[in-house]
Amino acid sequence: MRKGGGTCCSPRSRVPLKQLAPNCAHDGDALWRKAYPVKRSWLIGGLVAFVIALTAGLALLYNLPLDLRDRSPIQPIAFSHKKHAGENGMSCLFCHRAAPKSAIAGIPAVADCRACHLFISRDAPEIKKLMEYWDDQQPVPWVRVYGVPDHVYFPHMMHLRAGIDCAACHGEVAAMERIIRSVEIEMGWCLKCHKQNKASIDCWACHK
Ligand code: HEC
Ligand code: HEC
Ligand code: HEC
Ligand code: HEC
Ligand code: HEC
Repeated sequence: MRKGGGTCCSPRSRVPLKQLAPNCAHDGDALWRKAYPVKRSWLIGGLVAFVIALTAGLALLYNLPLDLRDRSPIQPIAFSHKKHAGENGMSCLFCHRAAPKSAIAGIPAVADCRACHLFISRDAPEIKKLMEYWDDQQPVPWVRVYGVPDHVYFPHMMHLRAGIDCAACHGEVAAMERIIRSVEIEMGWCLKCHKQNKASIDCWACHK
């Protein structure tokens, strides 16, 4: 009984040689051993280990703190803009108070967070972490998401006065659990909008 039309020594036959033709002159296993001086079980074991390692590696990359998909940093406390600015409707300027009147927007101090969190979610692990910074009199070491080099001057107030929304440069922050960098800040990006809005493209407006 031959399957698939394979002959006794045909490599295409799926039926083991011994079973197909017990008297066949060629010993398949011997041939295999000669061609590949590694045990077949080792080879299979190695392959399985490789696949497992690959899967584990990819899973690790996917969960790394430095997220390779968006390259935006993980913060020391899992602060969620979605919870605060989204679900609880807090205004951006409530926390980023400096934006309308200075170059920087500013990040709220631990004391500002504490004012609410003395009463809200006190037992949540991330709030306990927050309170440890307060007890140690240390600022939270937030990791910067946006930045320009030292030789560039970027004034938030000029842009807010011109009526530009935070979202034009930072994306839909109120929908973000974690701040995702929504633009790469490059000179061309600044210039494009400046040309569209007839704002200054004089080198010394932005460079010092
Ligand atoms: C309850 C206070 C609070 C509110 C309200 C808030 N933010 Fe923030 N914001 C923070 C804190 C704290 C950080 C630093 C941690 C982080 O990056 O998530 C931050 C960081 C940011 C950053 C990243 C800054 C950087 O370069 O590292 C941007 C952009 C930002 N906020 C924009 C907004 C916008 C736009 C809104 C309104 C939709 C808003 N924020 C509302 C507290 C707040
Ligand atoms: C105006 C009040 C207010 C301020 C100021 C405020 N929060 Fe909150 N925060 C809230 C509310 C409301 C929630 C949602 C609580 C809930 O959903 O149970 C929340 C939730 C949180 C949570 C999630 C807690 C949990 O249940 O896991 C964290 C973490 C947090 N805030 C951190 C901060 C940090 C850091 C700051 C300062 C930059 C801050 N908050 C400032 C009101 C505030
Ligand atoms: C025209 C584009 C633009 C607009 C509009 C804008 N930002 Fe920014 N933002 C930037 C750039 C560029 C940086 C990096 C600046 C730097 O490194 O000095 C930045 C940095 C920040 C930072 C972190 C550093 C800091 O300044 O404290 C926060 C927080 C922030 N922006 C919040 C806001 C909020 C809130 C609004 C709206 C009220 C807003 N931004 C509007 C471009 C913009
Ligand atoms: C989304 C549009 C937009 C983007 C992006 C933008 N700007 Fe502007 N910027 C404006 C507008 C509009 C004004 C004009 C404000 C005015 O004339 O009152 C302005 C004004 C300025 C001024 C003041 C110019 C003056 O006349 O003194 C500086 C400095 C500046 N921007 C720097 C930057 C830098 C640096 C970047 C990039 C990191 C940037 N801007 C990105 C829209 C933008
Ligand atoms: C609207 C703001 C703005 C204006 C106007 C502007 N620049 Fe820039 N420039 C930037 C920003 C922002 C960067 C930083 C880009 C980065 O970090 O990649 C930069 C970077 C540079 C660099 C460093 C090289 C690089 O790509 O990082 C040089 C050189 C430069 N600018 C020259 C000029 C000259 C010359 C002019 C006038 C013709 C000019 N810039 C006008 C915003 C501006």
